[in-house]
Amino acid sequence: MKVLMVCLGNICRSPMADGWLRKYSADQNLGITVDSAGTANYHVGAKPDSRMRKWAIEAGVPIEELRARQFSVSDFDEFDIIFAMDQSNQKNILSLARNEADKQKVRLYLNELYPNENMEVPDPYYGTDSDFKHVIQLLKNATEAFVNNEFKKK
Ligand code: 4NP
Repeated sequence: MKVLMVCLGNICRSPMADGWLRKYSADQNLGITVDSAGTANYHVGAKPDSRMRKWAIEAGVPIEELRARQFSVSDFDEFDIIFAMDQSNQKNILSLARNEADKQKVRLYLNELYPNENMEVPDPYYGTDSDFKHVIQLLKNATEAFVNNEFKKK
């Protein structure tokens, strides 16, 4: 299974979601390939935000090696599931879909944790340390829920 995490800049939320799912997949031998991307191109080539890197290390999930890239239409061919961090990202991804099959791949990540509620991972970019830590915990919970939904309940 190949999963893509998408936010706006690909330096805060989606790299952290990427890090968590990589960790869960490695620890539980789930065989998931994970990547992340941003709908915007502002930070292409950049490392994750230094605040996210710092708190990710504290959470035991290094994301140092990740580099930002922009979402591209070819990602619809490459990935089985495309998780958007918020509804604006979701709309932007869906606007690039070429057909119904592309659209069917796009989901909101927090719907794994809170089904059908269409909740969003808040953007911590202009926030405080506690906003970053909150996002890390939320993404951990969503990742646990996704793994459970996908691999444990069938
Ligand atoms: P992200 O956060 O979408 O979680 O990576 C942001 C990063 C950068 C910007 C906005 C959101 N920005 O405007 O540069």
